Amino acid sequence: MKSIENTNFNGRKVLLRVDFNVPVDENKHVTDDTRIVEAMPTINKLLKDGAAVIIMAHFGRPKKGGFEPEFTLQPVAKRFEELLGKPVLFTQQLLGSGVPEQMARDLKSGQVMLLENIRFYPEETKGGEDLARQLAALGDCYVNDAFGAAHREHSSTAVIAKFFPNDKYFGFLMEHEVTNLEKLMHNAPRPFTAIIGGSKVSSKIGILESMMNKVDNIVIIGGMRYTFTKALGGKIGNSICEDDKLDLARDLMRRMDEKGVKYYLPVDSVIGDKFSNDANTQIVPSGEVPDGWESMDCGPESCRAIRDIIMNSKTILWNGPAGVFEIPAFAKGTSEIATYVAEACKQGAYAAVGGGDSVAAVKQMGFANQMSYVSTGGGAMLEYLEGKVLPGIKAIQD
Ligand code: 3PG
Repeated sequence: MKSIENTNFNGRKVLLRVDFNVPVDENKHVTDDTRIVEAMPTINKLLKDGAAVIIMAHFGRPKKGGFEPEFTLQPVAKRFEELLGKPVLFTQQLLGSGVPEQMARDLKSGQVMLLENIRFYPEETKGGEDLARQLAALGDCYVNDAFGAAHREHSSTAVIAKFFPNDKYFGFLMEHEVTNLEKLMHNAPRPFTAIIGGSKVSSKIGILESMMNKVDNIVIIGGMRYTFTKALGGKIGNSICEDDKLDLARDLMRRMDEKGVKYYLPVDSVIGDKFSNDANTQIVPSGEVPDGWESMDCGPESCRAIRDIIMNSKTILWNGPAGVFEIPAFAKGTSEIATYVAEACKQGAYAAVGGGDSVAAVKQMGFANQMSYVSTGGGAMLEYLEGKVLPGIKAIQD
């Protein structure tokens, strides 16, 4: 990889793309600053070298074109400044106004500026070359550390790289992510178990197909499992299900069987009569959910079986929670799995956790530090594990 590690950026004006797309609460306080924290080693290295750093980032999905207060990076700039421990130059004026251009020209060694949400330019998500050129003109080399946005072929994540054919690099976060994902993709120690959850099987087809060629076990959890249970003839009451994916679920199970991959579907479920913490709950066999009830977590017998699978694994990939962990009454399955994965790591297994919800779960439950690796990417991690070439990575490698 073309890393920043062995290059000295003293006196350079570095254009750095990061993924600062972080959650904020109703008061615009950043509620999870992991992505900012994880980008700090790259930023600190560039500053230590004596570079001036111009940061590009996106926030949410603005659609109107131009400045929209709801999507300003201002709250992120505030948190970033606290973590950096020095001022971050930021303006809500966009390129073309002359303000950020002047700021970039005046930027001195050791200073940092953050451009306003790069998605305020409609060309960004279209991969517009003119915008990429305009951005490129602000600096003299390009570093991409935005793993979370590496699956997007946007002006600032990919297209811009062509303006720096000999001066484009991966940041430390990007390197760390790719190194860890490669461990899962090639010759991972066996037994290898993928635990795949999430609400919809349709969003996990790619990863299931890719993983069935690599792993020994696939544990199917979360809302998507009811599509499988129903496909097997089970009664799932009001549980979430994609009725148009029943054939697909059958086909996936047939292919896993053919490949000798053992798949596990939870045998019991915690069901509730409403989607809230004060719901009445029961534990029932997974294929016997009464009408009017919805399955929202794995039951105890399933947790015991999943524990055995995890404790017998040397490599674990976990993507997607077991149930509705945001509601305490239905969080047990997810917290149990987090405990087992942490235990397996203590015994020497390698475990990677990725995907917004499972990462949020391990953090909420205090297990993040006990995993071998927690990805900052949602869609990017999924696409990488599906075997796709990510434009943000390819642009640096080309
Ligand atoms: C993410 O949060 O997954 C990344 O920042 C990418 O955001 P996007 O899905 O809006 O492109």
